[in-house]
Amino acid sequence: MRWLSLVRTPPLYRTPTLVRRCQSTSAPRHIRVLQDTYPTDDYTNITPTISSKLSRRLHAQEGHPITTLRSLIESHFPDFAHLSSLSPIVTPHQNFDSLSFPADHPGRAKTDSYYINKNAMLRTHTSAHEVEVFAKGTERWLLTADVYRRDEIDASHYPVFHQMEGAKIFGTDASSIDQIEQESQRLERQLALSNIDIEDVRHISETNPAQTSHDVRSSEVIAKNLKFCLNSLMYKLFAGIAGAAKSDPLRVRWIEAYFPFTGPSYEVEVFFRGKWLEILGCGVVLQSTLDRAGVPNKMGWAFGLGLERIAMILYSIPDIRLFWSEDPRFLSQFTHGKFSTFKPYSKYPASYRDVSFWKPSSDMHDNDLYDVVRDVAGDLVEDVAIIDRFTHPKTQRHSLTVRVVYRSFDRSLVNEEVNLLQSRVVSCLQKLGVEIR
Ligand code: DAH
Repeated sequence: MRWLSLVRTPPLYRTPTLVRRCQSTSAPRHIRVLQDTYPTDDYTNITPTISSKLSRRLHAQEGHPITTLRSLIESHFPDFAHLSSLSPIVTPHQNFDSLSFPADHPGRAKTDSYYINKNAMLRTHTSAHEVEVFAKGTERWLLTADVYRRDEIDASHYPVFHQMEGAKIFGTDASSIDQIEQESQRLERQLALSNIDIEDVRHISETNPAQTSHDVRSSEVIAKNLKFCLNSLMYKLFAGIAGAAKSDPLRVRWIEAYFPFTGPSYEVEVFFRGKWLEILGCGVVLQSTLDRAGVPNKMGWAFGLGLERIAMILYSIPDIRLFWSEDPRFLSQFTHGKFSTFKPYSKYPASYRDVSFWKPSSDMHDNDLYDVVRDVAGDLVEDVAIIDRFTHPKTQRHSLTVRVVYRSFDRSLVNEEVNLLQSRVVSCLQKLGVEIR
């Protein structure tokens, strides 16, 4: 999931440093990431393109759409701590184990996450900080951060994106539970006055049970409080834009979900332009997380949402790469605290190139291909699609045909430049062991 700005960077054929990226035959023994030097090992898969994003901090850039959206969400939780400066480099323990991810969870794979080495990785979600924030004694908090995942390349996927995590924990004695109920009733009365249509699911069911260590009624009270808080957040974000007309209600749908670190768990979707869009995941925090944080007597809820997808809707931004643009024609369109409709300043022609190859006998994941293209072409690549796959019936070798779509936001790419980019992609792929057909 994620994106950057080559908008102000000279064309790649004038930047030989980028060419060198895939030319080193042996990996360096150490790499520098942010201010520190790390030994590399067979987990190391962070690329220069990804490294260069770590210091950008779009979510702290005044006037940037991501920052305005963050502020709007923060204003919905005025009595929460608002955190935004935690390092993106975490341990796999923080990112996975502290949240009880099983040892064989696919998110841990090198093909899905960016590792500096076996013991240091880029956080894949803001939940990675739950234990440390709860451990500081913070009982209500929102955390905004850049997160990193290896993924496909198209207008809505970029290997860096931004998430907000929100969480609240409560005492579990009768009077605390009573207070939660009262707050929920207040929110319920407010929502009853709003033009919102909510498709709910049961708080707890056989397929979405309370945790065995939890009192079922307390778990229900917390889940209900979570639902009211988030329904009113959805209304704040989307009312007025989701329906075809202002008079249409905002439609919000709750569905049962599964996350390794919550129970019960839900996803929230919002109806927009004829489709249900997944907005966030949430649930009642796993008690083992709170035990690890040293607050075993509390219970609570948490949610995590992706900011780019929401900002793309609120600002009508058509391509996720634009968030990383440093072009004044992009940035000057926005004022802090205001939602405006993005006016495209260009639609230069796209140019595509196909390449067919035999995969190496050693394992090669599709995400390896995407990182190669990203590293060669940066934000000049708009889309990478695997348009054909087959296995040779006799040799059992796997073949792929890949279409790479190049397009710049600020100028027309000339044929020679696209040819050069594509030939670099091809030579980097050959270094991974593919055989061009
Ligand atoms: N971390 C999850 C993700 O990135 C989202 C999420 C789900 C966050 C449930 C939560 C939660 O806090 O309770 O997919």
